[in-house]
Amino acid sequence: MLNIPQIRADFPILSEQIRGKQLVYLDNGASTQKPQSVIDAERYYYEHQYANIHRGVHYLSQIGTDLYENVRRQIQQFIHAKHEHEIIYTKGTTNAINLVAYTFGRKFIQEGDEIVVTEMEHHSNIVPWQMLCEEKKCVLKYIPLQPDGSIRLEDAEQLITPKTKLVSVTYVSNALGTINPIQELIALAHKNGAKILIDAAQAIQHFTIDVQALNCDFLVFSGHKIYGPTGTGILYGKEDILNAMPPFEGGGDMIKTVSFKGTEFNDLPFKFEAGTPNIAGCIALGTAIEYVQQLGLENIRQYETELLDYATAQLSQIEGLKIYGTAAHKSSVISFLLDSIHPYDVGVILDNMGIAIRTGHHCAQPVMDHFGIPGTCRATFAFYNTKEEVDALVAGILKAKKMLS
Ligand code: ALA
Repeated sequence: MLNIPQIRADFPILSEQIRGKQLVYLDNGASTQKPQSVIDAERYYYEHQYANIHRGVHYLSQIGTDLYENVRRQIQQFIHAKHEHEIIYTKGTTNAINLVAYTFGRKFIQEGDEIVVTEMEHHSNIVPWQMLCEEKKCVLKYIPLQPDGSIRLEDAEQLITPKTKLVSVTYVSNALGTINPIQELIALAHKNGAKILIDAAQAIQHFTIDVQALNCDFLVFSGHKIYGPTGTGILYGKEDILNAMPPFEGGGDMIKTVSFKGTEFNDLPFKFEAGTPNIAGCIALGTAIEYVQQLGLENIRQYETELLDYATAQLSQIEGLKIYGTAAHKSSVISFLLDSIHPYDVGVILDNMGIAIRTGHHCAQPVMDHFGIPGTCRATFAFYNTKEEVDALVAGILKAKKMLS
């Protein structure tokens, strides 16, 4: 059981007034707020321990290196990876997917090969593959969406074939909340000799992830969606695949030796970590993960499911409100439209009441095209949200309806 008032007290921003109203933050899919411990961890590092890492024999450099590398081990345990060096620090999910597209993609995907994604992907899991396909003359295929926002395994079975070199799918749709059957997709990819990347940007903060049990080849996520700092993210990859991939960016830290004759690249994980990273951010990401682990991911999942069910029931009672994304397996995302009112107008009225939701295409334009709509209003819930905040959202939507109908 989570103690929600106590949890809320850990997040300073939740007691802010916005436009003279108590903040109701329902844009957790875009980014999550930070507990005081995460803010303090970053600040403490800059105030007391800061220096560059992996470079100095001096005390501060060694402390920073230890803290940074300890978080790598912590993340290895958090996602149950076999080896610490299978955890690559990145700037975020987008950066991690691009890393795989530029390295694995350029080396192992050739003309005529196929890459399979779903129609519900975020742009960051479409555009890098489109760019690769244009360059390599390979083919990008999309597993179609069903009216409830799910995909059918029969369609996946048709599209994933021995021609497929890579399947890249989201665990949870950011625009619709659909939870995909990734275990089955992983098995299907492997049966056809393909590798599979799981975009866990909208999953890592909601459920336990075990990359060895899943047997995925790559898994990526962002720190800022799991209550950590922006500019941090993780690429998990199986050791043998990462070893076979060429480096991404060239520079300091990713080399063993450099001369004018050539360069010997560093071992994993450093081969993929050129330049000075977001050291303070990564250290604070460790604090964020510790916070989530203390609450317990199973407790988080249960509470967020309760909130989702409550919000779905309340919003469904509003006449003229249509929910997009009604799959049987859903995470705490509700995308909706109110009558024929533009989502932006609803968003502005809610904002005036201190209620933050996201409006628009949510970086998933093909999802909006599928439903023939310009965008949606989207409320996304975290463990610090309450039923009272859902009630405030309902009151806000009713007000918007009255003003705009
Ligand atoms: N991908 C983030 C969202 O869904 C930004 O809002």
